[in-house]
Amino acid sequence: MKVSIIGGGGLVGSCAAYALQCGGIVKEIALIDVNQDAAGGQALDLLHGAPSVADQVISAGGYEHVPNSDVICITAGSRRKPDESRLDLINRNTDVFLRILADVKNAGLKKDAIVLVVSNPVDILTYLAADRLDLPATQVIGLGTQLDTIRFRSLIAQHLKAPPTQVSAVILGEHGDSMVPIWSSASIAGLPLDKYPGWTPHLAGELFQRTKGSGAEVISKKGGAGFAVGIAIRDVIESIALDRGKILPVSSVQNGCYGIRDVALSVPTVVGRAGVVARHEIDLWPKEIQGLRKSSSVLRQTLEKVLGRIGRG
Ligand code: 2OP
Repeated sequence: MKVSIIGGGGLVGSCAAYALQCGGIVKEIALIDVNQDAAGGQALDLLHGAPSVADQVISAGGYEHVPNSDVICITAGSRRKPDESRLDLINRNTDVFLRILADVKNAGLKKDAIVLVVSNPVDILTYLAADRLDLPATQVIGLGTQLDTIRFRSLIAQHLKAPPTQVSAVILGEHGDSMVPIWSSASIAGLPLDKYPGWTPHLAGELFQRTKGSGAEVISKKGGAGFAVGIAIRDVIESIALDRGKILPVSSVQNGCYGIRDVALSVPTVVGRAGVVARHEIDLWPKEIQGLRKSSSVLRQTLEKVLGRIGRG
C-alpha cells in the first residue's frame, strides 16, 4: 500500500510518516510539501532509520505521487494560535485546502483511493473534500475525534494509574469545542469506569475539559501537536491498509446516523480498505445524542457560511 502525505514536510505530516514507518504496515510513504526542502529532509531522516524498522520505500516529491497512491493524507494548513478555535481557522485554511483539492484532482486519483483529511477545521474540510473530489463520499474520511479519543483515554488512564491500552472511552461529534464525551460506555478492562477505584463524577468533568483543551495546551507548550496526531493517523491508515474494519470515531459526511445528515462529524465508523464500510448507531444516553446534534448544528452553521463564500463543488 502506498500512502502520500500532503504537508509531509511539517510537524503533523512527518509525525504521521514516522508512525507509519514504525508500524511497518504500508509499503511506500511519499512526502509532498510546498516546502520541498522540508519534505526532502523529513524523508531522508526517515530513510536513515529504515534498516532497523521495515523494508519500505520512503520518498519526497510532488503530486506525481498521487495517481498511484492508495491513501492520500492531507495534513497541510496553518496551525491554530493558542487562543484560537479550530473554526476560526476556517478562512485561512479553506483557501489553501481548496487549492490542494484542485491539485489532487488534476493529478488524478485511483478509483479506490481513500482521502484522509487531517487539516483543520477537519470536519468542515472533510465535507469540502467529499464535495469536490470525484470519489464516493465513503472514500473521504476525516481524522475527526480519533485524536480526542486517544487523548481522553490517556488522561483517564494517567489519573487512575490504569494501563492506557485498557481504557475504553470515546469522544464523538465535532473535532472542536462541541465534541461529546461518551460516558455511557466508558470502561477499564471491561469494568464500568464509574465503578473504578478513584473515580468520582467531578473527575469526569475535569478530564473531559482537559481533553477538549489538549490541542490548545500542546500548542501553547510546544507550538503544535505531532506525536499523538501521527499515531491517530496511523490508527486510521492501518485499519484501511489491513482492511481491519476497526470501529473508529472518524469524520465523514453523514447520511442519517443519529438523525444527522449533510454534515461531516465523527460517529462510530467501521473503517476498512473501502473507507467508511459502515456506521454503528449505538445506543447513547439522551444527553449524548443531544450533544451530537449540537455538534451537527454548529458545523452546519459554519458550513453554510463557507459554502456561501466559496460555492458548492
Ligand atoms: C489538535 O487537536 C491538530 O487539531 C489537532 O491538536
